[in-house]
Amino acid sequence: MLHLEFNSDSENEGIARIVTAAYIMKFDPDMEEMDDIKTAVSEAVTNCIVHAYHDPDGKISMDLSDQNGILRIEIKDQGIGIPDVKKAMEPMFTTKPEEERTGMGFSFMEAFMDQVEVISKQGEGTTVIMTKKIGDQDKLNG
Ligand SMILES: Nc1ncnc2c1ncn2[C@@H]1O[C@H](COP(=O)(O)OP(=O)(O)O)[C@@H](O)[C@H]1O
Ligand SMILES: [Mg+2]
Repeated sequence: MLHLEFNSDSENEGIARIVTAAYIMKFDPDMEEMDDIKTAVSEAVTNCIVHAYHDPDGKISMDLSDQNGILRIEIKDQGIGIPDVKKAMEPMFTTKPEEERTGMGFSFMEAFMDQVEVISKQGEGTTVIMTKKIGDQDKLNG
């Protein structure tokens, strides 16, 4: 289990990706798994930075853990929250079209991970929990 807390500064998005890559090395992931997981983390963290807070001092946490070959990534902010999660997760839905957002962040997370759960409350923040079966199980079991 690894817990990381950082400010909603765009510089930290790259750090979150690298920490995730380092964490999953033990699974001996192939290039595709590596890229998929890093992209999902990148989308979730970028959302916290771009949507949750209006300033770079907001706190974002990332928890990485795994059990029985299932990787679990939890990314959490205490920002503005999402009024309608179902709608927000629709492909091409964005509340920031003027900033050239594509509205595909949640779609990518869902495409690249096995499961994506979003818990959000307006004014309290958003938690994204993503899981994915990872690595060669035979290899891990020795
Ligand atoms: N952490 C968050 N806090 C507040 N709103 C969010 C958060 N993540 C996503 N959203 C909302 O969900 C919408 C869709 O997110 P996403 O699919 O990543 O598309 P995009 O980021 O391109 O707008 C965002 O436009 C925003 O309104
Ligand atoms: Mg996004």
